Amino acid sequence: MIRVAMAAGLLVFGASVVFAQQDLAVKQDNLMKAIAKPFYGVLSATARGRAPYDQAAINTALNQLEQEVGKIAATYADNPKERLKGAEYGPSQKVWQNKADFDSKIPPVLKAIADSKGKVKDVETTKVAVQAINTQCDGCHETYRIKLK
Ligand code: HEC
Repeated sequence: MIRVAMAAGLLVFGASVVFAQQDLAVKQDNLMKAIAKPFYGVLSATARGRAPYDQAAINTALNQLEQEVGKIAATYADNPKERLKGAEYGPSQKVWQNKADFDSKIPPVLKAIADSKGKVKDVETTKVAVQAINTQCDGCHETYRIKLK
């Protein structure tokens, strides 16, 4: 009886560890989605002529992007050790083998965002900003992001 109770307790404990890891994987993926929203949904869409030029929307997008990118180091502090089910991209294990190097890819993105503020005035300058920021996003993705599908 005690053994059965212990086994059940272990199962519950094991299940909650698995849930915590899925939660973390979801949180990390959601952060990238929150980064993608202002970047692709506003800045890139404007650069491609898919959204009308709207200075207020551009300024808000740059501020949101800066805020969300600033959360990457802390959000990826721990390794979820589990892939998010159905995700198109996932983090490489290298993130946690070289966390200092991973973190060093963030300031160049923040700098590209800060440099773009006040410079984006029309579609042409939006294109320049998108290109400059995207190059820095890829600086991390090329090593630390894995395509799963
Ligand atoms: C320091 C590293 C790093 C930086 C900087 C970074 N990313 Fe990512 N990105 C990742 C990792 C790791 C993933 C894998 C997502 C996961 O954890 O599931 C990812 C995934 C993504 C995805 C796919 C999300 C999905 O649906 O699965 C998008 C879109 C994305 N990043 C956009 C961006 C953009 C735009 C920027 C720049 C403004 C950026 N990222 C900057 C590391 C980074």
